[in-house]
Amino acid sequence: MRPRRFLPAGPLKGKIRVPGDKSISHRSIMLGALAVGETRVTGLLEGEDVLATAAAMRAMGATVERVGDGEWRVSGVGVGALLQPEGPLDMGNSGTSTRLLMGLVASHPITVSFTGDGSLSKRPMGRVIDPLSEMGASFEASEGGRLPLIVRGASPAVPITYRLPVASAQVKSAILLAGLNTPGTTTVIEPVPTRDHSERMLKGFGADLEVTVEADGTRVITIKGEAELKPQVIDVPGDPSSAAFFIVAALVTPGSEVVIENVGLNPTRAGLVEVLRQMGGQIEFLNEREVGGEPVADLLVRHSQLKGIEVDPAIAPAMIDEFPVLFVAASLAEGVTVTSGLDELRVKESDRLTAMAVALTLAGARIEEREDGLVITGTGGKPLPGTASDAQVVTHLDHRIAMSMAIAGLVSSGGVEVDDTRPIATSFPNFEDLLATLAG
Ligand code: S3P
Repeated sequence: MRPRRFLPAGPLKGKIRVPGDKSISHRSIMLGALAVGETRVTGLLEGEDVLATAAAMRAMGATVERVGDGEWRVSGVGVGALLQPEGPLDMGNSGTSTRLLMGLVASHPITVSFTGDGSLSKRPMGRVIDPLSEMGASFEASEGGRLPLIVRGASPAVPITYRLPVASAQVKSAILLAGLNTPGTTTVIEPVPTRDHSERMLKGFGADLEVTVEADGTRVITIKGEAELKPQVIDVPGDPSSAAFFIVAALVTPGSEVVIENVGLNPTRAGLVEVLRQMGGQIEFLNEREVGGEPVADLLVRHSQLKGIEVDPAIAPAMIDEFPVLFVAASLAEGVTVTSGLDELRVKESDRLTAMAVALTLAGARIEEREDGLVITGTGGKPLPGTASDAQVVTHLDHRIAMSMAIAGLVSSGGVEVDDTRPIATSFPNFEDLLATLAG
C-alpha cells in the first residue's frame, strides 16, 4: 500500500497535457495486432491497463514494441491468425482488456485463460459470456461468471444479432471484435449510445462496418467477416476521463486558471463538460481540431462557483467514468445535486456509488446514497473539513476513487488521506506530477 495525504493547495495555474485516451490506446494495440503490416501509434497511454493489453497481444503472436515516449509499433498477425498463448493472460485491473480480448479469442481456434487482480476478479463477465456463447465460444468461469476464466474459441464462429441489455461499450466491442473473424454479418443493436471508438477505429482499419441510427436513437451496427485489416498511423488524443480530474480541480480551487491541451471531445465521452457547464463551470474550448479521427480541443478552465443541479440520467453513458469526480464537484457546489440511473457504477473497478459516498462522508461532505445514485448537498464553496488524522479513504484498487479524493483534498481544511495511490498507475501514471506542477 502507498498511502498519501493530499493537502489543500492552490490556486492552480498553468498548462498541462494529459496522457493518451485509454479506450483508444487499447484498441490501437488490439487492431494493430490483427492487421497485416506495421501500425504506428503516437500518444499511447503507457498505463498498466494498456500494458496488459500489449503483453496479451504479444502472447498471441503480435510484435508490440515501444520505440519512444508514447510511440509504439505494432506488427499484426492478421485476423484469424492469433496464436494460442503459452500461459494464462494476466489482465491486472483492466476490465476493458479482459472483455475486448474475450471477444477476439471467441472467434479464434484457441483456448485462453484470463486472470486478474482482486478488483477485476469481482467484476461480472456474464455480460460478454452470454453473446459470445451464442456465437459458439465456450467458457469455464469462476462462480458468478467471474475471473479466473477460460475461453474456448469457436472456429468458425456464428454471426448473431444481439440487442445490448446494458449500455456498455465493452460488451458492444467484444461482439464486434468477435465478428471480425466470423463469416457473415454480426449485428449489435444499441438502444442507448455508448462510446463509439471501436466503430470509428474498425472502419479506419478497413473493416466492413456500418452504423444506422433509427428514429428513436437506437444504433444498429453491422460488421462483415471475415475481415482483413490494414495497418494505420494513429495519433491518440488526450483522455477526457483523465482531464476530468484537472477540469474539476480548476473549477473548485479558488483563483485557478488552467489550460489542458489536446483533450478528446468525442460526443460519446464529453458529458462531464456539459454537466459542469450546467452547474455554472467556466470551460472554454480553444483551438478545436481533429486528431486521430476524433474531435479535440484545448480546454481553458477557470475557478467558478458551481451550483447543484439534477443530472439527467440520459447523459450517464457519455460520462460513465467521470461520476466519482463529479461527486467531488457537487460536494463543493451551492445547493443540492441529484444523480440517478447509475447502477452501472456499482460494477466498475469498485462499487463507485458506495466507495465515493463513504469517502466523501469521511472528508466531511453531506451525501445520501440511493440505490442508483447519490444526492449531494454542497458546501457552497467552503472547503470540506478533510479526513480526521486517524481516518483513511479506502480506494478498493480503484484509480478513479484515489484521484477524485486527491482533488477533494485540494479544497479541504485538513487534507484528505488516501490509503493507496498505486492504482493511479493503471490509467494515469503522471497524475501526481501534473497535480504538483499546477499547484506550483
Ligand atoms: C470502456 C467502456 C466503459 C468504461 C471503461 C472503458 C471502453 O465500460 O467504463 O472505462 O473502453 O470500452 P462499460 O462498457 O463497462 O460501460
